[in-house]
Amino acid sequence: MKGTAIMRHHSVAIVRNRYDAVAIVRSRYDAVAIILHWVIALGILVLIAMGLAMTHLGLAPMAKFQLYQLHKSIGITVLLAVLLRVLWRLTHKAPPLPAMPPLEKAAAESTHGLLYLLMLIIPLSGWALVSVSPFNLPTVLYGLVPWPHLPVFSGLADKAGVEAVVKFIHGKLAWVLTGMAVLHAGAALRHHFILRDGILGRMLPFGRRATKEP
Ligand code: HEM
Repeated sequence: MKGTAIMRHHSVAIVRNRYDAVAIVRSRYDAVAIILHWVIALGILVLIAMGLAMTHLGLAPMAKFQLYQLHKSIGITVLLAVLLRVLWRLTHKAPPLPAMPPLEKAAAESTHGLLYLLMLIIPLSGWALVSVSPFNLPTVLYGLVPWPHLPVFSGLADKAGVEAVVKFIHGKLAWVLTGMAVLHAGAALRHHFILRDGILGRMLPFGRRATKEP
């Protein structure tokens, strides 16, 4: 919302908008959104590094097996965190974006939409991958919680063929996600260091208010 901030307190701002009306807006994300954002971001970074290590480093079989198990455990954790984040986002409005050119706003919104989509499809394809694998290895999250296979794949005749397709999707989309995450983080840093509009601070646990008013 474009407006002149009259007063700010912790997580709300009282602003005078362009119609000269006074409105109270939440200027920060809430604690649940912030915790989920950073848990998911860290999880994705770790998963990409692990995914590449376990498929490309030629590790010893036991180390490779353990890395696969941990990748599956963290991957399902990220899936659950993303589902929670989507639910939270649908029920708790995000603080409004500051005034920005329509094209930038469209870029921000479509990047966010695509990130959500990838953050759902990639772990789901990982889950599909282990469910369709002819090896049929069980998934036990962190060695403690048995996790079922997706039942749709149990009766398939050509498991190996489907596995190859799902493996391709999982690996390639992880690269797309990496690109989108770099774009997303780059935009956040631009807002912080160049535009100085406090956008990054809204998602930091101890974020400070804008150095320039929105
Ligand atoms: C956001 C979540 C996830 C990300 C970002 C991610 C990322 C990756 C990456 C980068 C690779 C390496 C791909 C390659 O270079 O070939 C990989 C492989 C793999 N992932 Fe994930 N993953 C995620 C979730 C999951 C989940 C939930 C599971 C299973 C429950 C899973 C199972 C696997 C398996 C089995 C492989 C090995 C595929 C192969 O053998 O080629 N992943 N993942």
